[in-house]
Amino acid sequence: MSKQYKRTLITAALPYANGPVHIGHLAGVYVPADIYARYLRLRGKDVLFIGGSDEHGIPITIKARSEGVTPQHIVDRYHSLIKKSFEEFGITFDIYSRTTSEIHRKTASDFFRTLYDRGEFTEQESEQYYDEEARQFLADRYITGTCPHCGNGRAYGDQCEQCGTSLSPSDLLHPTSTLSGSKPVMRKTRHWYLPLDRHEPWLRRWILEEHREWKVNVYGQCKSWLDLGLQPRAVSRDLDWGVPVPVEGAAGKALYVWFDAPIGYISNTRELLPDDWEKWWKDKETRLIHFIGKDNIVFHCIMFPAMLKAEGSYILPENVPANEFLNLENDKISTSRNWAVWLHEYLEEFPGKQDVLRYVLTANAPETKDNDFTWKDFQARNNNELVAVLGNFVNRALVLTQKYFDNKVPAPGVPTEYDREMMAEAGKVKAAVEYSLENFHFREAQREAMNLARIGNKYLADTEPWKSAKTDMARTGTILHLALQITAGLSIVIEPFLPFSAAGIRRFLNTGRLKWDDLGSFRLLPEGHALGKAELLFEKMEDDLIGKQVQKLLDTKRANEANECRVKPVKESVRLDTFEKLDIRVGTVLECEKVAGSDKLLRFFLDDGLKKRTILSGIAAHCPDPGELVGRQVCFIANLEPRKMRGLLSEGMILSAENTDGSFALLSPSREVLPGSPVV
Ligand code: MF3
Ligand code: ZN
Repeated sequence: MSKQYKRTLITAALPYANGPVHIGHLAGVYVPADIYARYLRLRGKDVLFIGGSDEHGIPITIKARSEGVTPQHIVDRYHSLIKKSFEEFGITFDIYSRTTSEIHRKTASDFFRTLYDRGEFTEQESEQYYDEEARQFLADRYITGTCPHCGNGRAYGDQCEQCGTSLSPSDLLHPTSTLSGSKPVMRKTRHWYLPLDRHEPWLRRWILEEHREWKVNVYGQCKSWLDLGLQPRAVSRDLDWGVPVPVEGAAGKALYVWFDAPIGYISNTRELLPDDWEKWWKDKETRLIHFIGKDNIVFHCIMFPAMLKAEGSYILPENVPANEFLNLENDKISTSRNWAVWLHEYLEEFPGKQDVLRYVLTANAPETKDNDFTWKDFQARNNNELVAVLGNFVNRALVLTQKYFDNKVPAPGVPTEYDREMMAEAGKVKAAVEYSLENFHFREAQREAMNLARIGNKYLADTEPWKSAKTDMARTGTILHLALQITAGLSIVIEPFLPFSAAGIRRFLNTGRLKWDDLGSFRLLPEGHALGKAELLFEKMEDDLIGKQVQKLLDTKRANEANECRVKPVKESVRLDTFEKLDIRVGTVLECEKVAGSDKLLRFFLDDGLKKRTILSGIAAHCPDPGELVGRQVCFIANLEPRKMRGLLSEGMILSAENTDGSFALLSPSREVLPGSPVV
């Protein structure tokens, strides 16, 4: 930190309230932000940690539509679920609010209006797809059609998920509105744009010259955006879910979600500190830090700063320590494929083990590259690090004191040369952790913090107080005195990373919260201080517990594969009149038999209401007893051109469902109807 600041404002990306949060969110954003906030608070700094849910945007309206509920219903559900998960994981937001709040609507609306009045926007007319039946403009995701690259009939207006190409709606062949199923038409619409090109010169200077210290992944992404040249970016949408555009004649338009969401950081600060929020956002002595994932970099490093600068009275972020992504068992985390470890499920399945997950996610944090979470690694880190190093050391120090000194801190006596070396070593931990944390190297910082437990473990192993207890109680007292001081130090240094365990240690030691500056001192617990009751900090995890989680993922994978390869994409859409050309009817089976010399074909004789009709059908393999079908009603295509097969004329086609497991089922009406009834 070159410059001295009076206070630090920490924000963590506002998660979309369209689903629960998973380990990727925690690892990339919320755990590092929380570690940082806790660390600064321990150091007695003035800190504010702002969070909240991002409740606007198209995915929320799509989810609502698919469930047949309102968007408000969706965000209410997930906002509470997400908020609760964060609380239970000990993420210490000073406020966790939401972008559907009244104060946010006003803050975002005023912000837009200020920029608007000042001429900071440009206006442009463009052509966009409009659904005349649903009477609304269509967001890219609301349009499906055929991908021009791979022919997938279910491509979206922004992307084809089959071949991965990103598309724009006008690329789609046969576009269809998912709202009404009708064919959308192009219609003119006006939007407001933030002319990022105007901001490019100062952004270049500010990032590329004045913030060379930003993480390489962040700096690199900014540089490539800037080098490509910035374009004006639309800040409004034709949409009824969001903050209405506060301009006359803008009915039916809402602020673009990426315009209103970051303003949510400001709204939430205002909600928390109605009279005092401005110093956090407008005073040059506030240091603003945004914690985000890599997909948010351009918004937090370019777009939001441009908005803040255009407004004029706000400070800009001092750093944006964005992380890369966390994968799960070698596969990209995906909400739609349910490939995730959901926090609310973890909390149920591993009650009381929040710190284990916090620890593993920090140890594997995707700080410089994408990283992988595996249950095996989770188990190994729990067993070999938390149990064997941290838990084991704390437990030995406490249990030995109980055994030899009546659970009271023994007298320090005179430390030996070896003791002094250990103390010097332990004394280095503080600076090492500080250095790493201040540079946002959280995995390194946690490793350094764990080092204190390693030093303690080694010290006990080398000095063997259980042996000296047989001959030299004073020496044993010195060793345990020092071990207990290290334990007290651990309660400080692990607090940012493992807050539940830090509280546990304080309980075992019967001591209150210590300050960061006490770290490294060997006078934290006075001689004679009575300790509390020791318990195990961590428990070993057996293979079957971990095996269950692995199995759960395997089941997900199997279910996904079944879906992905067996359910075929929807064919190109057809007009109603095309469908109506087919004459589908119900008939009653009069006779049914195998065609001699073929193991595939069945010959049906149907009563079609007019005559006895012959139809050949290739489903013999699925009907071991064709005679059984006599009397059943089936659906058939009556106007298919007759075809000759094996010398027999087939007058139509019997309809059946081809099950995704490969078997067939004949289609029948749900109650008996007269033969010849049309299927409409
Ligand atoms: N909801 C966005 C996401 O999950 C993040 C919004 S961050 C904010 O990617 F700054 F816009 F709030
Ligand atoms: Zn495609």
